[in-house]
Amino acid sequence: MRLLWAFSALLFSLQQASAETEPVIVIDPKEVFNQTSATLSCNFTNPTSPVTGTHWKKNGKIIESTKKQSGELYTVHIIPKIEANSGRYSCVFLSTSPAEEFIEVKSPPHITAHKHSENANENDKAVLTCDFHSYPFATDWTWFKISEGDVKMSISNGTKKYSIKSTPYNSSLIISDLNNEDAGEYNCTGVNDLGPATAKINLRVRSRLAALWPFLGIVAEVIILVTIIFIYEKRRKPDEITDDDDSGAAPLKSNSATNHKEKNVRQRNSN
Ligand SMILES: *[C@@H]1O[C@H](CO)[C@@H](O)[C@H](O)[C@H]1NC(C)=O
Ligand SMILES: *[C@@H]1O[C@H](CO)[C@@H](O)[C@H](O)[C@H]1NC(C)=O
Ligand SMILES: *[C@@H]1O[C@H](CO)[C@@H](O)[C@H](O)[C@H]1NC(C)=O
Ligand SMILES: *[C@@H]1O[C@H](CO)[C@@H](O)[C@H](O)[C@H]1NC(C)=O
Ligand SMILES: *[C@@H]1O[C@H](CO)[C@@H](O)[C@H](O)[C@H]1NC(C)=O
Repeated sequence: MRLLWAFSALLFSLQQASAETEPVIVIDPKEVFNQTSATLSCNFTNPTSPVTGTHWKKNGKIIESTKKQSGELYTVHIIPKIEANSGRYSCVFLSTSPAEEFIEVKSPPHITAHKHSENANENDKAVLTCDFHSYPFATDWTWFKISEGDVKMSISNGTKKYSIKSTPYNSSLIISDLNNEDAGEYNCTGVNDLGPATAKINLRVRSRLAALWPFLGIVAEVIILVTIIFIYEKRRKPDEITDDDDSGAAPLKSNSATNHKEKNVRQRNSN
């Protein structure tokens, strides 16, 4: 019993000793959300070896402008506008045993369309993509086709027509075998812990015939022209004979022609 007591006392004092000397980074604040700007700070206590520099990271990537060579044990990073800069931030103290601590800066989703307007050909496929710029990353994506009167029609994944590929950072809607009815507006909605947001993409579908129309137009024009000329020529032919007669109007001409004939007949008869 006494041995057990002595042992636990020893354990307790060991724990106390290690707590006093263990390197710790104290962060302030613990987490950021629902703010438009933020000041993140890290205070490094009891480093085991001298600190040679500090920097900050966002989503695991070093923020170059924050790199600093110094033995300071305190570092601050200011985010003036969180909207499109939310992320999982961390401060890093460089030494023989580097130390890192994380601060989550959360914001409601900020979503943009890769391209606001997409053009594709009939019978081809179209790929519409939306990007998620916020932290926490997207937990869910939904795509809608917007029909007349702002009516939303939810698009299901894995049909012959539609397939949806989503990651926490983006989502793509692939529309196969395009036809005229696929043209129009599509909305992508992404959701994170703090709510949803939506972006809009306009799809234009070019008809296969569209490229042919000017050519068909010229062909039609030529056919009409040829027909008109042909008809005109046909109508002109009977007149051409009388033209050689160099007399007045057509009915008179034919009269004069018959008169000539009659005269000739009469002359022959009289002969
Ligand atoms: C978040 O912001 C909204 C509007 O800016 C406010 O109404 C709400 O109280 C805030 N929530 C928290 C937890 O601060
Ligand atoms: C960092 O923490 C130490 C120990 O808790 C404290 O004495 C010191 O004032 C802090 N430094 C800053 C800049 O907050
Ligand atoms: C859609 O379906 C395909 C295959 O059926 C699958 O690989 C993909 O993960 C699905 N996408 C979503 C967002 O569920
Ligand atoms: C979506 O995000 C993933 C992961 O970052 C990336 O590999 C992929 O290329 C992105 N897709 C598009 C269409 O941008
Ligand atoms: C589609 O998204 C746009 C842009 O976010 C939005 O203004 C519009 O109201 C959405 N349409 C519908 C029917 O939700």
